[in-house]
Amino acid sequence: MTAAPAADTAPSALDLILTRRSTKAFDLVEPGPGPDELEALLRAATRVPDHGKLTPWRIQVLEKQGQAALGDFLADLFAREIPEANDKQIAFERDRPQRAPLLLVVTSKPKTPHKIPDLEQLLSAGAVCTTLLHTANALGYGAQWLTEWPAYRPEVCRHLGHDPDNDQIVGLIYIGTRAQAPDERPRPDLSDVTEVWAGPAGG
Ligand SMILES: Cc1cc2nc3c(=O)[nH]c(=O)nc-3n(C[C@H](O)[C@H](O)[C@H](O)COP(=O)(O)O)c2cc1C
Repeated sequence: MTAAPAADTAPSALDLILTRRSTKAFDLVEPGPGPDELEALLRAATRVPDHGKLTPWRIQVLEKQGQAALGDFLADLFAREIPEANDKQIAFERDRPQRAPLLLVVTSKPKTPHKIPDLEQLLSAGAVCTTLLHTANALGYGAQWLTEWPAYRPEVCRHLGHDPDNDQIVGLIYIGTRAQAPDERPRPDLSDVTEVWAGPAGG
């Protein structure tokens, strides 16, 4: 009698892509990715399509110390701008970047002027973010891509060492162990968002 082959329980790359779901940052807990996993995340993310090989993006790794430093900055900025803010609101802002074990800040840094359009350079930075989500999922972690208000504030961009006149924070990617599996959410009906195009309608 021949033994049945061992069931291969590892999900395929396609399974992972077809089932990816964001996990809310507040539901991401310790442990976060270890050093080898972090390197895999960064290697995967920096293999994105990149017209002109410009590497027009940067990824900043914020572990506990960096998250706390960014949280202090956000809390101060928030308190300065909203004098009537109460302690609870200010504490919320201090905690904002500290919701998950690992925070990766992705910033688009287009080379301008350049023959490669800014849009294509920005899209490459977006691809970095998406790749981080898929890689985190493949490593067994949950992740969420957020921008929220800090991504759009020049003060935050500058505080992180970027040039707000040129650079744009495009994603704050929170990564950690899922405290609970996220529910599925409705996905678009393929026929609403895709079509076979074989020439102009009525042509
Ligand atoms: C560029 C970008 C910015 C986002 N920023 C936020 C955000 O600030 N707050 C938020 O609740 N969701 C934000 N999202 C959406 C979530 O990351 C997530 O995609 C959404 O909750 C749907 O879940 P899903 O990824 O499982 O489909 C953003 C998504 C993208 C692509």
